[in-house]
Amino acid sequence: MITILAIESSCDETAASVCSDGKILSNVIAGQEVHKQYGGVVPELASRAHMQHIVPVVHEALRKAGVSVSEIAAFAFTQSPGLIGSLLVGGQFAKSLALAMDKPLIAVHHMQAHVLANLIDEPKPSFPFLCLTVSGGHTQIVLAHNPQGLKVLGETIDDAAGEAFDKSAKLLGLPYPGGPLIDKYAQQGNPDRFQFPEPQIPDLDFSFSGLKTSILYFLQNAGKSDKFKEEFRATDTERELFIRNNLNDICASIQRRIVSILLNKLKKATIKTGITDVCLSGGVSANSELRRSFLEMGERYHWKTFIPAFEYCTDNAAMIAITGYYKYLAEDFSDLSVSSSARSSW
Ligand code: KG4
Ligand code: ZN
Repeated sequence: MITILAIESSCDETAASVCSDGKILSNVIAGQEVHKQYGGVVPELASRAHMQHIVPVVHEALRKAGVSVSEIAAFAFTQSPGLIGSLLVGGQFAKSLALAMDKPLIAVHHMQAHVLANLIDEPKPSFPFLCLTVSGGHTQIVLAHNPQGLKVLGETIDDAAGEAFDKSAKLLGLPYPGGPLIDKYAQQGNPDRFQFPEPQIPDLDFSFSGLKTSILYFLQNAGKSDKFKEEFRATDTERELFIRNNLNDICASIQRRIVSILLNKLKKATIKTGITDVCLSGGVSANSELRRSFLEMGERYHWKTFIPAFEYCTDNAAMIAITGYYKYLAEDFSDLSVSSSARSSW
């Protein structure tokens, strides 16, 4: 039996998971409330909180799995990408365990893990499959030939989809992270009420910064013009009233545009590759309109569609554990000298 202990600490969640022969036995996450008051993740506070959480979180993952540390065959951790201070805490902890227990160390790329989260539960996609990974830090379309053979077909050239949600929410005066709130208000709104422009980006890449600017100008002129230009300015009171009276429709219209940008590119990728096993992953796949439209598109174009359970979509250590398991099978181990890295492609 191959039992892996995995640690994920790339951003503001301290997470640990145990998996045995590809089956997840525990998946423990400690979030960090401390960032809420700052409207975003504060890196220094994140790494301090990881240091406080890591021991109890790892203990809890072992306890829930009913496994002792001496039964662990290898220790996996998120090596990249992420906040460097946060990555270092999980990385050093995994290295210490590997050294103390004299077991292999497995360095995992966070984005590979988001894709392989689709291999945790049945039904699983067949290789080759496509995966749209949408989170607060990333937006990618990945082609997976096998667990180790992944290729990025397209990615964002500026903001990630989650950032597009969160930044739009901030412009509307909503607290961080605003993505789930836009989703909530949008459920009561009319998505056709306001038309935001779709960016013209070649191939399979994405861009969301133009959308953000158009929303900014739209709100500045309190919806008085659909020209999305800076020259029309409403007063602060007019703007606040406009947002308050139209919040549901604005959220629904923004959400409709973000989802259409994502799914139009995904459709393009299926046409380009001829692949019909198609997956979603990342925190933004919690979005109700994205899930509904993705499944609807899948039915229309005869795709086989897959979305991991919600706990495996947002940042978690189970996806690091499953990736660690496949890397173990491929004997893809790392030396103790491997360093964490804020940015890197796999
Ligand atoms: O994958 P994740 O948990 O963390 C990162 O690696 O970034 O994704 C978090 C992102 C945030 O931007 C959050 O606003 C967004 O996912 N998000 C949503 C929803 N739930 C989470 N965005 C839109 N609708 C949602 N329901
Ligand atoms: Zn992530």
